[in-house]
Amino acid sequence: MKVFITRVIPEEGRKLLEEAGIEIQEWKEKRALTQEELIANCLESDALLSVGTRLDADFLQACSHLKVIALHSVGFDHVDVDTATSLNIPIGNTPGVLSAATADTAFLLMLATSRKAFYLHKSIEKGQWGFFDPTANLGVELRGKTLGVFGLGKIGLEMARCCKAAFGMKIIYHNRTRNEAAEQALNAKWLSFEELLQQSDVLTVHTALTPETEGKFDWAAFNLMKPSAIFINTARGAIHQEEDLLKALLAGKIWGAGLDVTNPEPMRPDHPLLQMPNVSVLPHIGSATQETRAAMSVLAAKNVIAGLKGAEIPFLVNPEVYTTKS
Ligand code: DGY
Repeated sequence: MKVFITRVIPEEGRKLLEEAGIEIQEWKEKRALTQEELIANCLESDALLSVGTRLDADFLQACSHLKVIALHSVGFDHVDVDTATSLNIPIGNTPGVLSAATADTAFLLMLATSRKAFYLHKSIEKGQWGFFDPTANLGVELRGKTLGVFGLGKIGLEMARCCKAAFGMKIIYHNRTRNEAAEQALNAKWLSFEELLQQSDVLTVHTALTPETEGKFDWAAFNLMKPSAIFINTARGAIHQEEDLLKALLAGKIWGAGLDVTNPEPMRPDHPLLQMPNVSVLPHIGSATQETRAAMSVLAAKNVIAGLKGAEIPFLVNPEVYTTKS
């Protein structure tokens, strides 16, 4: 049995695959594959372990022989899951293991933005650390402020826990369905989307990208927020409208923003958001710790191994693939 892997993954996952006797074919070039290259490699393989590669209907139809597609991510918005299901291809992801690292990134962006840290670091490099001015470089404090979580799932909960423990922040959230465990554990309060916008001092996004959440944070949404608010997005760039975010910051509709995800990615180096004192941007590193990436590779490998044995894969995105088969 053979698996094609679209980028070099941590040793831990590779080792599991090798121990299971699976032959590995890895894409080692430091550039994304073209669709043709992806198809050609998959046609010679029984399974695909995919790191961030877009998997559309054309690809899936061309490679309908694949026994399993294991994603090296928790998000699956880049995959046409409905087509995969109709072709009986199980899609696996890596839930849970990246919650802490991603929440840490949101926390880092919140704190860095509140104290203009990235901007001030750059100003030292430019030789601008000059005369001490007690009214300059002022940030805002987070103690006792209100954290609004849009999407209180595993990652949102982890971020809420950190903010409550570190700064005694009050937690409010908006989900389609209420998270009663979080309400009990953190005294979190469910609010409508509009109320969440109006009451958050820091608004942090932890939802999946879906047709419902795409472009959700637009000019109208930013207009409802406090002029002192900080917007954080570590989920997917397409959940906010980047031009509207820039306009909202320039117009003082919100105070600051911290982004680990942009739209598009990568962000262009001359983007005006990168010049703003109250903005912090990172290159989509939410899950980028040694521990988390190793754990993700292990989950992805377990999905490949199970799928190639014909067993139900343990971390499954499309359970219908098994119910429709039987
Ligand atoms: C995920 O796992 O979805 C992260 O955003 C990495 O892409």
